[in-house]
Order: sequence, then structure tokens, then C-alpha cells
Amino acid sequence: MTRVLVAYGTFRGGTQGLAEMIGEDFRDKGYDAIVRPAADVEDLEDVDAVVVAGALYAGRWHKDARALIKRLAARLVQLPVWLVATGPLDTTAETKDIPPVSHVRNAADKIGARGVETFGGRLLPDAKGFPAAAMAKNKSGDWRDADHVARWVDEVDAQLRA
Ligand SMILES: Cc1cc2nc3c(=O)[nH]c(=O)nc-3n(C[C@H](O)[C@H](O)[C@H](O)COP(=O)(O)O)c2cc1C
Repeated sequence: MTRVLVAYGTFRGGTQGLAEMIGEDFRDKGYDAIVRPAADVEDLEDVDAVVVAGALYAGRWHKDARALIKRLAARLVQLPVWLVATGPLDTTAETKDIPPVSHVRNAADKIGARGVETFGGRLLPDAKGFPAAAMAKNKSGDWRDADHVARWVDEVDAQLRA
């Protein structure tokens, strides 16, 4: 059974939820999908493919996602890898083809990623901390789109089978 690791970097849990949606869609297709915090991934010995997902904050890809790429680059170049960013607190991830932020583009170049994708984000109305609490007053909501995730996993599945 093909094993896919979905590693995530999150501050407020939204990216963990997105990673779990991705993992579930892989499982539905017969993959052995493991969903883990990026910071806990020590090696990639028993893994056949990798998705690295990170939250976007102020145009930056989550530090745990960046650190995973740096730490395991030598192995990641040998594997099929897809990079995921989650962020926009509106419908733009559905209506536009959002170009990856520079962190994601650089990481993709470094390891020869097969693809990059941006999904909508989530901000809870009771988000704590500065400036999230202020933003949440008029920008809270959940733009993680299950159909978008399912369509994307279909594409990745097709590439893995090719
Ligand atoms: C302070 C702050 C800054 C943010 N900056 C960006 C950004 O630059 N680009 C973007 O697409 N989303 C941005 N977002 C939205 C987050 O990426 C979104 O809420 C994401 O789902 C958070 O993931 P997490 O819950 O895993 O931490 C920002 C959110 C906050 C609270």
C-alpha cells in the first residue's frame, strides 16, 4: 500500500484540519495516509509520497513547514512531494489561481516539488493574540473547501499512478 505523509505547520489548528481532510481523501482512494505535525517528522524512511502543508501568516509559510523542507531536503528530492499553503480568508482560493508565496516557491524549487496549491483558510471568531483577535472581528470564517481538496487529491492520485 502506498504510504503518503501529510505534514502540517499550524498556529491555530486550521491547517491541521485541512491536513486531516487531505489524509481522509487519500485513505478513501486506498492510500495509507499519515497526518503529522511537521515538527515531529524526523525521517521519511517508510514514506512513498509527501504533502507539506503550512499556514500563511503575513505572506510567510509556517516555520515548521519551512524547517521540514530544510531538515529533510536530501530525502525529499528523491520523493514525489506536493506543497500546500492555506490562508486566504475569502473565496479567492476557489476563484483565482493564486501564485505561491516566495517561501513556497523557493521550497518547491529546492526539492523539485511536483506541485503547489493554495487553499482557503480559517479564522475563528474568538481567535486570540495580536493581530488575529482584531482581524477576527471582521474576517472570521472557514474557507477550507472540501470539494477543492477532493479535486486536488484526485490530481495528485492521478500523478502518483502515472
Ligand atoms: C495575523 C494573521 C495574518 C495572516 N496573514 C495571511 C496572509 O498573509 N496570507 C493569507 O493567505 N492568509 C493569511 N492569514 C489567514 C491564515 O492563513 C488562516 O487563518 C489560516 O487558516 C491559519 O492557519 P492555522 O489555523 O493553521 O494557524 C492570516 C491570519 C492571521 C490571523
